[in-house]
Amino acid sequence: MGEPLPLCYLNGTYMPWEAARISPFDRAFLYADAAYEVMPVYSGRPFRFGAHCDRLTRSLTEMRMADPHTRSEWRDIIGTLATRNGGGDQYVYWQVSRGVERGRNHAPLPNIPRTIFAFCAPFPAMPPKVIANGVACITAIDTRWSRCDIKSTALLANVLLRQLASDAEANEAILLCDGQLVEASSSAVHVVIDGELRTPPHSRHILPSITRGAVEELAERARIPHRNVPISENELRHADEIWLASATREAMPVTLLDGKAVGTGKPGNVWRRLHETFERYKQELAGEPW
Ligand code: PDD
Repeated sequence: MGEPLPLCYLNGTYMPWEAARISPFDRAFLYADAAYEVMPVYSGRPFRFGAHCDRLTRSLTEMRMADPHTRSEWRDIIGTLATRNGGGDQYVYWQVSRGVERGRNHAPLPNIPRTIFAFCAPFPAMPPKVIANGVACITAIDTRWSRCDIKSTALLANVLLRQLASDAEANEAILLCDGQLVEASSSAVHVVIDGELRTPPHSRHILPSITRGAVEELAERARIPHRNVPISENELRHADEIWLASATREAMPVTLLDGKAVGTGKPGNVWRRLHETFERYKQELAGEPW
């Protein structure tokens, strides 16, 4: 992942990120008491901004915080930040922490000014070698908590799972629980079996991925049948194709799982159709209101 672009946003001010300062008593620092979003910006245009805003509001509500900004205030903050960082293809990270408390108290949850932080980074375009060959993944047991539907910054389990992948020179750790596919440490997972795209149903154990939603919509356009259905470990291991989906990975083909070839060992034909449809869709959206 690339270095951040020069300007960040902190509590109402746009500034060089080197100059940003946050109190050590911020509850995000002490308790990971914060929610966040990661959103792609294509040709200067935020992608699925409304869906990201809705998910942030929902995460905050589940954490017993009101969203500190209206949709139009977020539009102004995020749009200004992306534009002042040069537009183009980037991603925006933004987070809302419960704020800075005097001292350390688990509860009661304080009603204090929220800490709001956002930064941009260059979009990590899919490398040609990934388009040609796909990526390797490992499987791991899901060691996370039981509210993975909340996009909170409490990501220690995700970080450690991703490190397992990194240790194995793999791109991602695909997570299993009780013999079922859940998702990956920082992406949604789709499989293709007999030409059908399948994804596990939403639950408290899965983040409602915005990219996954886009992929399912685009599958319809590309006339790829799709279904939300539980996927067993055995189905995962014998799938014709496996894809990762996230804001920064888009839909990425997995061609090696735990050292064994997925399908033919090359990105599959269904993925190619979806990828082309996704690329066309991004071009269509360029310059459209958001
Ligand atoms: N991660 N599942 C998990 C656990 C994730 O962390 C993510 C995204 C996704 C995909 O969600 P989306 O399509 O909305 O990006 C699924 C982001 C990119 C991150 O933490 O950096």
